[in-house]
Amino acid sequence: MYQDLEKILYTRADLQQRVNELGAQITKDYEGKFPLLICLLKGSCIFFADLVRAIETHVELDFIMVSSYGSSVNSSGNIVIKKDLSCDISDRDVIIVEDIIDSGLTISYLKKYLQTRKPRSISVCTLLNQQKRRKADLTPEYIGFELNSEFVVGYGLDFAERFRNLPEIGILKHELYEDKE
Ligand code: IMP
Ligand code: MG
Repeated sequence: MYQDLEKILYTRADLQQRVNELGAQITKDYEGKFPLLICLLKGSCIFFADLVRAIETHVELDFIMVSSYGSSVNSSGNIVIKKDLSCDISDRDVIIVEDIIDSGLTISYLKKYLQTRKPRSISVCTLLNQQKRRKADLTPEYIGFELNSEFVVGYGLDFAERFRNLPEIGILKHELYEDKE
């Protein structure tokens, strides 16, 4: 896997430290509220598993899978729910946990969809944020790192379903995806 990377952007230690900080912040903000954390599959599964263990107050966990049609590196905003939540979110404080927000189209669609179920609040926690590439009006409440438009893989993030198991986050060599944009 490593030969396909331009470089390692975040090491295991960088990720662990930042995820612990996010967990501490969520603990402080949601103490006593029993928030429902929603893992957006598949990309955020690794981040989610680490994040929930860094939160020191009671939380409930649920999972949702959406697919957005587009190329393997750009999403289109045409989104389909592939696996829905298993619990009722009405009157709950919901936190959507995402691996990376790029155009923001996926999350803003999902937020609107979940709003129709009348949660008490919805916030978004993303490990990586690409504010410069935003097309939808969306600012996440919790951000791990701000990225500069690179295509990254690892720690749950994939390129054509590969690299999710890489423990670090790396920048993919450009020649591997430039013909797929
Ligand atoms: P958005 O709808 O443009 O915000 O796209 C968000 C989704 O695209 C994320 O959930 C990822 O699955 C995928 N994505 C965007 N950028 C990257 C990247 O650099 N590496 C891997 N997946 C990405
Ligand atoms: Mg993805």
